[in-house]
Amino acid sequence: MFLLRKNLHVPGLFLFLLLLSSSSSSSVSIAKAQYKSSPYLSPTTVILNYNKMVNNFKVFMYKPNKPLNFAAKVESMFYSSLQNSTYITQDPEEAHLFFVPFSQDTSTRSLARVITRIRSEHPYWNRTLGADHFYLSCGGIPRVSDRNLVELKKNAIQISCFPTRRDMFVPHKDLTLPAVSIPHAPARRVRMGGEREFCVGEYGKDVSWIGEAMRLGCVVVVVTEGAVNDMPFMDVLRWREMVVFLRKGEEVKRVLGESDGEWHERRRGLGVVVSKHFVWNHPPLPFDAFNTIMYQLWLRRYTIRYANVQ
Ligand SMILES: *[C@@H]1O[C@H](CO)[C@@H](O)[C@H](O)[C@H]1NC(C)=O
Ligand SMILES: *[C@@H]1O[C@H](CO)[C@@H](O)[C@H](O)[C@H]1NC(C)=O
Repeated sequence: MFLLRKNLHVPGLFLFLLLLSSSSSSSVSIAKAQYKSSPYLSPTTVILNYNKMVNNFKVFMYKPNKPLNFAAKVESMFYSSLQNSTYITQDPEEAHLFFVPFSQDTSTRSLARVITRIRSEHPYWNRTLGADHFYLSCGGIPRVSDRNLVELKKNAIQISCFPTRRDMFVPHKDLTLPAVSIPHAPARRVRMGGEREFCVGEYGKDVSWIGEAMRLGCVVVVVTEGAVNDMPFMDVLRWREMVVFLRKGEEVKRVLGESDGEWHERRRGLGVVVSKHFVWNHPPLPFDAFNTIMYQLWLRRYTIRYANVQ
């Protein structure tokens, strides 16, 4: 049975709900006893590392050259959460990472000037050629030949909005912000029991509902045209354990129809566990979207610093 959801809270949403009622309820209850897989890539160290981050992580923020404006709500959420947080230090000598703030509408020329200024007024950029710096840019910054921007794009950590165009994203270092889902989402009643529920969306289109769908126990199916180059929290979560990636053209109904209750229940359970990482709280809460992004930055704090650049 295919149900098209029209009452979704996110505009432009390509999402529909698939209820497959063929599985038996007994297989679901067996599966409940078998939640042994972890949604985390490093299940034994993630909590320990997170607590270390909360107690130690320090970020130095350069002064913006003009008042900042952001196009996406999630960017301003991140920015104001960071500004208000205990991660910010006024002492650059104790900082693990440096934040380069600039507005969404900054031209590449002014951006190059921002970096030139940072490079000449402070010793930190030259030490790593920007590798211990990070910046916020929803769409990502384009490739240009100016030396400052080359270093910014190649070395500094970019935080963009999920999903980001492939040419705007460097997988080993860059991060993406999960979208802000609507506050106080109307509770969507999800039928469980013998019914397996899937929320299907197309990668690259609006997939801002992923966290919310997982929270409500709906197994997320992402239909992709090519390889997936970014998912939020890619180096923290084991996406393939909880989300189903399908190639465009593959028959969604057939592939999912072959899944059984246990398979579904395991993914559903893991999705519920990780959904807290997708929530933007105001002010932030432990393990929420803001703090998980900070955790990813913390994981990237090691860089080679040159003692003397000259
Ligand atoms: C950093 O290096 C550039 C040349 O690459 C130089 O012009 C600048 O003065 C250096 N910055 C500092 C603070 O020494
Ligand atoms: C940050 O602090 C300011 C001033 O106290 C407050 O208005 C704002 O809502 C806070 N932002 C967040 C994201 O907590």
